[in-house]
Parts: sequence; C-alpha cells; structure tokens
Amino acid sequence: SEGVTVAELADALDVAANDIIKRLFLLGTPLTMTQSMSNDLVELVADDLGRKIRIISPEEENSFSFYDDPSDLKPRPPVVTVMGHVDHGKTSLLDAIRHTGVARHEAGGITQHIGASQVEIGGRQITFVDTPGHEAFTAMRARGAKITDVVVLVVAADDGVMPQTIEAINHSKAAGVPIVVAVNKCDKPDANPDRVRQELVEYGVIPEEWGGQNMFVNVSAKKGDGIDDLLETILLQADVLELKANPDTFASGYIIEGKLDRGRGPVATVLVNRGTLHVGDAIVAGMSHGRVRAMLDQHGDNKAEATPSDAVEILGLDSVPNAGDEFRVFEDERDARALAEQRALKARIEEQNKVKHVTLETLFDEM
Ligand code: GTP
Ligand code: MG
Repeated sequence: SEGVTVAELADALDVAANDIIKRLFLLGTPLTMTQSMSNDLVELVADDLGRKIRIISPEEENSFSFYDDPSDLKPRPPVVTVMGHVDHGKTSLLDAIRHTGVARHEAGGITQHIGASQVEIGGRQITFVDTPGHEAFTAMRARGAKITDVVVLVVAADDGVMPQTIEAINHSKAAGVPIVVAVNKCDKPDANPDRVRQELVEYGVIPEEWGGQNMFVNVSAKKGDGIDDLLETILLQADVLELKANPDTFASGYIIEGKLDRGRGPVATVLVNRGTLHVGDAIVAGMSHGRVRAMLDQHGDNKAEATPSDAVEILGLDSVPNAGDEFRVFEDERDARALAEQRALKARIEEQNKVKHVTLETLFDEM
C-alpha cells in the first residue's frame, strides 16, 4: 500500500482522525482509519484543514548524490578515520597528530573533543573523524553514510597484523576507501616494521615501494616521530582522490555524534559533505530539526559557516540525532520540520509493527 493512512495523517497533522474522515466523506472519498490515501488526497485534505504540506519523495530524501555540475565542484580537504587493532596506538596517534596541529595553530590552546578534529599542514586542512570504532563504521556504512575518504590503519610494529587489523582492512575495502598504513611503536626495541609490511601483503595491502597501492609510514606516536611524514602522506593520498564538492548550495552531510548538554540542549557534531552550513539555517538531522543557533569548531570558537569536509558542533536542534544520521538544510523551516516529522512517523510505525510482531510470537509461544 502506498501513501499514508488516515490515522497516520491525523497523527502527523495532530488533528482528530474523525475530523479527517469527515472531510474525506465531504470530498466524496469515504475512507476508514486504516486505509491509505493518495498523495493528491493528502494534499487536498491538508489544504482543507488550512495546512500547507509538501510530500517528499524517497528520491528527494536520498538526494546526496544529486549530480552537481562539474564546473560547480571545488577541491575539498580529506576526511580521515583512524582504525586498527586494540592497543596498537590509535588514540595516541590522534593525540600526536592533534598536538602537532594545535601547537601550530594556537600555542597552549585547549582542544575540546567534538568527535572530530581538524589539523592544518602547510596551509592544507585534514579532518580526522575520531568516533568510528569498527562497529560504528559498519553501522554508518549500513546506513549509507559516507563519512571517510581515507583510512589510516594503525599497526603496532612489535605486534604485527592482528584480528582487528584484518577487520579494518575488510571494512575499508568494502567501503572502497584507500588505506594508508601507519606502522606504529617503531621506537620499541622489538619493533619490526618490515615484518608488518610482509604480513599485510597477504591481505592485499601492498606497499608502494613493492609495487602496490598502499602508502606506508613508520611512526612513533609516543615520541612524535614520523607524524609530519604521515600527514604529508595522507595529503598525497588525498591528491590522488581529487576530492571535490559543491560548496555553493544548501548544506548536507552526516551526524558524527549527538549528545544532550545540560546547559546547551541537544548538541550534534556534523560533517559537511556538500554545500555550506550557516548559522540560522533551517536543518533536519534524522528525526530532529531546528535552526542552527550556533556553530563551534573543535576549539570552542564560534564559526559563521562550515564548508565541505568541515566538522563542527551545532546547537539548535529540537532533539538529539544519532551518529550516522544524515542532515540537510532546507530553504524553508517548515520543510525541515515536515521531513523530520515524516521520519519520526515512519519510525513510530516501524516500532509499532515490531511490537505487534513480538506480541504475535508471544501468543504462539503461549499456545
Ligand atoms: P584502544 O582504543 O583500546 O583500541 O587502543 P588504541 O589503539 O587507541 O591504543 P592507545 O593509543 O590507547 O595505546 C595503547 C598503548 O600503547 C598505550 O599504553 C600507549 O602508551 C602505547 N603506545 C601507543 N603508541 C606508542 C608508541 O608509538 N610507542 C610506544 N612505545 N608505545 C605506544
Ligand atoms: Mg583508543
């Protein structure tokens, strides 16, 4: 069955279902609560109720891949995710990278954790997404979220390839994301970076110097050795990808992290994929919507706008969105609200169906 039912529309418009049934009858289309309505009929009834609605097609809802005119595309910075086996030094590496960036950017500044960090190397930006562990990566990919351009695979030189190293390789390959290998802990006496290279060949991750596709860098997150080299390598990899986006349109992208802040209300870290996000924009993120009240960078400084590959914290949503939710800006706040409500309604119906399903099973169990 296509379209929403009478009951669903009543719910979405927050009016009594009987009121809608009455109007449908007067329009010459008698329907019951559970019968579904055509889009035309939905618009007619809404109009009759003095409500203006816009029906959004699934195509429109998934319009991230809208084809931009190539002449509108401009280079954008890479978005990078760090993955690897437990204890191989992912967090230490990010700390070392952040320290490099922060030290250059604003000496002594306190860096706030916003689920992403941006560093500047020789005037070029790299955005690191901190969140995805392997599970988060899978979940986001399952939802179609494109959240990373490059994976930095951290492998400890004293430990070599381990189960989660292989898992990370599989995730990256499935997502079609290139891997830069950071062979970490090279300061350790028992470090054997060449063994790591040999082991990885088995999994199709082959060093460029051996004729493969992958760039390798020996680092020590602990001592800070090789970090500059790694950042330059990431930029080289990014150059190969020729990353581009159209900055001159309504912003869209993904939620990296959402939380409820006692003082500030719902706070979301967003990654902009396309367009430019401004303070004041009408935005929908998953089932939340609102106007961007304030936008902050990782240093807690206010930003007026965020362009493709920027990660910023935004305030102003009416509820907390989930990591992996898409966000997008609408010209009209009512459209943002309509989409958020439509999604909430869909989620409620799915939830109800789930409950029914469980009840039925329980019933059978009892019989
Ligand atoms: P999980 O988040 O638990 O998966 O670990 P992780 O990959 O983030 O590793 P983390 O950065 O927490 O480092 C694990 C341990 O390795 C810590 O004790 C670090 O101090 C140590 N370590 C990380 N990098 C280096 C390094 O370059 N050299 C040495 N010697 N130790 C390191
Ligand atoms: Mg860690």
